[in-house]
This record gives sequence, C-alpha cells and structure tokens, in this order.
Amino acid sequence: MLISGRGSNLQAIINAVESGQVPASIRVVISNVEDAYGLERARKHQAEAVFCNPKNYSSRREFDLALVDLLKKYEIDLVCLAGYMRILSPEFVQAFKGRIMNIHPALLPSFPGLDVQQKALDHGVKFSGCTVHFVDEGVDTGPIILQGVVPIEEDDTVETLSIRILREEHKIYPMAIQAFVEERLIVEGRRVKIRDIVDL
Ligand code: GAR
Repeated sequence: MLISGRGSNLQAIINAVESGQVPASIRVVISNVEDAYGLERARKHQAEAVFCNPKNYSSRREFDLALVDLLKKYEIDLVCLAGYMRILSPEFVQAFKGRIMNIHPALLPSFPGLDVQQKALDHGVKFSGCTVHFVDEGVDTGPIILQGVVPIEEDDTVETLSIRILREEHKIYPMAIQAFVEERLIVEGRRVKIRDIVDL
C-alpha cells in the first residue's frame, strides 16, 4: 500500500483483511510523508510501515526505482495507491504493469487530478462519486474496475461531499481488491469485467 496521509482507505482495507473479506495480507505500507497517520494505522495492524523520503533521491525516477526495489523484496502481488499524492514514473508503472490500483474521488473520466470534489461542485454536476482503476502511465486514465455514485445535494460543500464520497470509497476499494485477489477481474482492453460480483 502506498499512502501520503490519514489513510482512511488503508483502514477500510485493513478492516476487510482482518474480517476475512479480502483474503490477502498487507505486506508493507509505504508513505512519502513522514508523519502520515496511515503509518500509525499500519503499525496497529502489525504491518510493516516504512517512510521513504523523496528528498534523499535526485529525481522522481530514482525515488520510484528505490520503491520498486523495496516492493520487490516484499514479494507483493498488487500495489494499492490509497491517497498517494505523487505521480508514478513510467518505470514504476512498467515494473508492476496491470498490478497497480488507485482510488480516485470522482467518476472518471470526469475530473481527473486534484481538488476534484471542488471541481465537481463548480461544474454543477448532479452526481459524483469515486473510481477504483488500474494505473497506467497517464494521470487517472487506466481501466476502470469499480465506481460508486454519490448524488450531489444543493447545500453540499467540499467537506460534506468529500465525506459521502469517502464512505463509498471505503466500500468499493476493498471489493475491487477482493475481486483481484480472487482472480475474478477480466481485463479486455479498457474494459474490466468482474466475475460473480457481490451486491453492496
Ligand atoms: C481519498 O479521498 C482518495 O480518493 C484521494 O485522497 C483521499 C485519501 O484519503 N486520492 C486522490 O485524490 C488521488 N489522486 P485517505 O488517506 O483517508 O484514504
């Protein structure tokens, strides 16, 4: 798991692992931010929690190559980005091709990038939500695995909308990981089909 902050999605995944919903183990949680609360959550779960300082590397590529080395040592099957606020270099994406997932707080391909709850409100859309997708070389452009829809209320603010989207994130991210681990994801070009999908 790669994180940069409070790690509420990480916590949802920890809970799903602990309850047996996701038949997997979290080998390592890596943060590029030293005081990310997610590291604390990882330690409470007795998972390895590692801070990798980007300042120790001369470029994004060097940093990402160090991450690749570290992740390979843990013999992981899947890399999950959970509020990881750095763009991955092509070298990283190539190293784990088809095995990197991300959660994004909007209905892609609408509103990629940052501050997307604000962008959804500013645009006046009536529905937003969240997307779990495989990561490719673009920013939030990879094949979509699952989406959760959240209606926008007239009096929504960034805060109220973000909370409702987050609730949905905590449901669909563990589901997507569960389906990956159970080998129920079938990727056909941009389309990801899920065998035996369970209702939320
Ligand atoms: C989540 O809303 C996630 O979708 C978003 O950051 C938040 C992290 O919260 N990710 C992105 O915007 C990625 N570009 P968390 O640390 O509590 O899981």
